[in-house]
Amino acid sequence: MSYNGFSDFRSDTVTRPTPEMRKAMYEAEVGDDVFADDPTINKLEEIAAEKVGKEAALFVPSGTMGNTIAMVLCSGEGKEVIMEDKCHILNFEAGNISRIAKALPRALPSERGEIPIPLIRENIHMALRDHMPQTRAITLENTHNTWGGAVLKPSYLKQVWDLSREYNLHMHLDGARVFNAATALGKDVKEITRYFDSLMFCLSKALCAPIGSILAGSKEFIKEARIVRKYLGGGMRQAGIVAAAGIIAIQKMTLRLHEDHRRVKALAEKIADIEAIAIDHEHIETNFLMVQLKTMDSSTFLQKLEEKKVLALPFNKSLVRIVTHNDIDDEDVERAALAIRSVCS
Ligand SMILES: Cc1ncc(COP(=O)(O)O)c(C=O)c1O
Repeated sequence: MSYNGFSDFRSDTVTRPTPEMRKAMYEAEVGDDVFADDPTINKLEEIAAEKVGKEAALFVPSGTMGNTIAMVLCSGEGKEVIMEDKCHILNFEAGNISRIAKALPRALPSERGEIPIPLIRENIHMALRDHMPQTRAITLENTHNTWGGAVLKPSYLKQVWDLSREYNLHMHLDGARVFNAATALGKDVKEITRYFDSLMFCLSKALCAPIGSILAGSKEFIKEARIVRKYLGGGMRQAGIVAAAGIIAIQKMTLRLHEDHRRVKALAEKIADIEAIAIDHEHIETNFLMVQLKTMDSSTFLQKLEEKKVLALPFNKSLVRIVTHNDIDDEDVERAALAIRSVCS
């Protein structure tokens, strides 16, 4: 289902709303959401909270705003949040944690997004002495973007959760793609979200809505989150028009993610024998394929691929990311495989 003649594998953020979403958006009943008067947003928030097993949810314009609100509420000036050193909040959200939450990130190394439990324990500072910043929260990312769509296992999450209860720390999930994680595990998403006090997930990525993310948590947390959203400029008035697509995102698009996961594996198999590239097949877990280039740099490779009407994203000088999503079908996969083979020959 290429677009403008291109098969676009750069990201699942390029997905366009489905025809059903466009119809729902056209017909959406709307009101002023700053007065909590938009029936479509109210419905979306109710459905979202129920889906992830939390008391309440808030519709926000972006994943970054959802994470930012969570950081404001779970940390505080001069306090620390433990996070993984390659996570999106630390590396790709323009410094929100220090600029807005005024907190300190305690960035720790991990294996595919899972920070060793003893390392987390060692780095929890309870301000026993007055020169130490106090740890307030732990945030994890599932699936993990920079680790190539890695899935953090519920058995690991439970261990971090237990530790957080011991020290009274808030647990926040950057779950931009948490439904991809649940799909890969073959489990209900609540088997992941139960280990977090709050979470953000994106409607606008693999779930195809044009705009928007959800922040979910306790009633009290979401009541406070509405205030932070307002002062960040995220009160959106008649945004039911986009929330209508979000409802379909949650109810329908979460059910088809296995197709994206199947297609990424199919593409990996089709190009497995090409000597100029290396693929870590064991770690293709969701909708991301990381291709290591052995003979070319990323920009040359991507330029040649683009000439063949296939788009992908550079991750570093010799690593390229390919992402499957609702606007990629089997023909696009075939086209990408042929293009990669030809560029590498
Ligand atoms: C893991 C992760 N978290 C958060 C975000 C931020 O989402 P948004 O682009 O909607 O701000 C992204 C975006 O790519 C992401 O990959």
